[in-house]
Amino acid sequence: MILYTISPVNLMRTLTMALDLAVDGINLHQKRVAIMCGYISEKMGLKPQDEQALLSAALMHDIGAASFSDERKRLANPHYLGRPMEIFVHAENGYILLKDSEPFSSIAETVRHHHDKWSGGNPSGLSGDQIPLHSRIIHLTDRVDINIDKNKQILSCRDDMKKMVKANQGRIFDPMVTDVFLECADKESFWLDLNIPDYVNTFQSRMNLGGAPYTMKDLLKIAELFATLIDRMSRYTATHSRSVSGVAVFLAKLSGFSDSELELMKVAGLLHDLGKLSIPNTILEKPGPLDADELLTIRQHTFFTYRILSQIEQMDTVAAWAAWHHETLDGLGYPFRLNANDLTLGARIMAVADIFVALTENRPYRKKLSQDVVERIMRDMVKNRKIAANIVDNLLSNYKLAEEIVLSQENWTQPPTIMEV
Ligand SMILES: [Fe+2]
Ligand SMILES: [Fe+2]
Ligand SMILES: [Fe+2]
Repeated sequence: MILYTISPVNLMRTLTMALDLAVDGINLHQKRVAIMCGYISEKMGLKPQDEQALLSAALMHDIGAASFSDERKRLANPHYLGRPMEIFVHAENGYILLKDSEPFSSIAETVRHHHDKWSGGNPSGLSGDQIPLHSRIIHLTDRVDINIDKNKQILSCRDDMKKMVKANQGRIFDPMVTDVFLECADKESFWLDLNIPDYVNTFQSRMNLGGAPYTMKDLLKIAELFATLIDRMSRYTATHSRSVSGVAVFLAKLSGFSDSELELMKVAGLLHDLGKLSIPNTILEKPGPLDADELLTIRQHTFFTYRILSQIEQMDTVAAWAAWHHETLDGLGYPFRLNANDLTLGARIMAVADIFVALTENRPYRKKLSQDVVERIMRDMVKNRKIAANIVDNLLSNYKLAEEIVLSQENWTQPPTIMEV
């Protein structure tokens, strides 16, 4: 039995990279909020485990919007005048995603209230110090980051930001947190650190003190959470990651993988499309054919999957199994242009599982394909040296069982997405 001990800090760092992939909207925003939270926590003298909880929540506070590129863009705009309650939607969605997802369930409440106003009038009914302290800290630092004019020299924004926060002290922001912020804001370093969002790592490394290592069980839970985020990006792929994971594990079992390898395969399947978080929903949901640029954008996703997962310790194998599913045996796949010499059995299995699931799912531009058509397409791909013959043989001789895995996922429902609060 292999023991996986993954440092929570490292995993958090890695996964927030996935959440920051969005090319527009709130990218890097959560890291900057975490940096400010680190300053405030230090000034307030929070205990290491409280600081860890605060920074984790800061790094994931907008997770409820991660699957929706329009919402991410709206959140980044300080002048957006939507319906007054709209800002609470992603906070509630974040709470729903996190509350049952150990090991993050402890930050769910913080995320839920990160837009609650100190003076009340919130959908939660909370006001003042009924609102969790960590939510109050994230709320203030979040508004600061969103209101900073990113086109200006950052130090020239300092006075405006102090004025904005002061003007809302006791109304939108906690008076005590406001005072701590104003003290921190005097330091130039507080602002200059925001220009290097990766400085968050320095704060995070302090968190090593607090957290027990994650186990495989934790990793599976986290992988499921991210699979949900990935799959809710499009109503056409609501269960894609879970289905690919199921079929890949099934094929790996037929190939004689050990129990611990099967667990890794499950994680790899759940996360194989992790990099899709970088693709705007409009592309993923486009009913017609994609134009050249859209195709290039879509094709980036496995590159990001690899770059993110390969940073987690002991997860090199998972990264390769997950991210090489668009590489082909003839060396003409992407993005690493690997070939038959490089592609391990696990990677070959994932490619076959992904194609099978894609063909047996309904898509915006076509219905799911029949067994005859699926068989013909996959045999052709074998003939053209795209995918592995032995794995395709295994799959096609167990077609009904594999199809059942995909069908059974259709009973799994996404956690509800709240559109109105
Ligand atoms: Fe937010
Ligand atoms: Fe935010
Ligand atoms: Fe993919």
